[in-house]
Amino acid sequence: MLLALETSCDETSAAVISQGVILANVISSQTQLHAEYGGVVPELATREHLRNLPPVVKGALAKANVKSEMLKAVAATQGPGLPNALMAGFKTGQALAFALDVRFIGVHHHEAHLYSPWISGSPPRARFEEFVPNVSLIVSGGHTMLVHVRGELEHVILGSTLDDAAGECFDKTAKLIGLPYPGGPEMDRLATDGDPNAYDFPRPLLRETSDDFSFAGLKTSVRYFLQRNPAVLENQQSFRDLCASVQAAIVEVLVTKTLRATRRVGVRCVTASGGVTCNRRLRGDLQAACEREGFQLRLAQPALCTDNAAMIGILAERKLLHGNDATDLDSDALPNWQLGVTAA
Ligand code: KG4
Ligand code: ZN
Repeated sequence: MLLALETSCDETSAAVISQGVILANVISSQTQLHAEYGGVVPELATREHLRNLPPVVKGALAKANVKSEMLKAVAATQGPGLPNALMAGFKTGQALAFALDVRFIGVHHHEAHLYSPWISGSPPRARFEEFVPNVSLIVSGGHTMLVHVRGELEHVILGSTLDDAAGECFDKTAKLIGLPYPGGPEMDRLATDGDPNAYDFPRPLLRETSDDFSFAGLKTSVRYFLQRNPAVLENQQSFRDLCASVQAAIVEVLVTKTLRATRRVGVRCVTASGGVTCNRRLRGDLQAACEREGFQLRLAQPALCTDNAAMIGILAERKLLHGNDATDLDSDALPNWQLGVTAA
């Protein structure tokens, strides 16, 4: 029985895991709190984590019907993320492990995302399934990367964003056109009734053979487009067409590059996780592209696309099963921890 904590950005989450089964996964999201500031305010996030951790941990234990004495290990996100937000969960995890005299495991946030598409069902019966080698797209407000997952605890980063993350591109473009934060879900909703071919926006690095992404230029081109065509925002239909066209540009880049990397690496399975994986066009286009190629597709279920402790706990359990050492109780959170680099 393992308790896992996640506090790297603006979700406070605790999960209880037992042999690949997620007995509870409680998530307290701060999105509404940060909405009035147009983005995550680190200091506020830290305070909220400190306030939310006790009830979220208690809630997860109660839902799982588990007493703290039954825990054999505690895990927490060690990095990367907002420094003080990370520290709140990481130090809480270490303190709990110390008090309970059990092992503590620090987990890499991106590595944990690689495991979330393989969780089926919902607590108390959610279960981690054995997985096949795959190319994994991690796409959220803070990160956009492609990873070749060769096997358990074995992965190679193929590419990442050179500037803005895809979710950041959704959010910043949405802000330009007056939509509330976070803009991704709003753009997704408005795009449903829009024409994705109405306006032609650049598809950055689409033709490059590298697996890196770049989304800052796309946002800037929308800014220039609006300076030339301000009336687009005045009409309901052209507004929706704009949302659909921006979304189509982002999604085409994500899907094309993911499929190209999968073919090149030679695996037959694609996975995706992170907040932007909630996007309906991305889910639909990945599905269609994978069907055309005969690839298996595993998308994280929407509740597990965004940050959650279930994925942290699943990875921590795999690490223990593979004989990885426990993390020192006096180690620190690593806000800039790169995937693939051993924690100091
Ligand atoms: O994983 P997440 O909750 O947090 C991190 O950024 O780590 O992802 C949040 C991001 C935001 O940029 C949000 O706009 C985006 O995911 N997002 C979406 C959708 N739902 C969330 N973007 C596009 N379409 C959506 N449906
Ligand atoms: Zn994340």
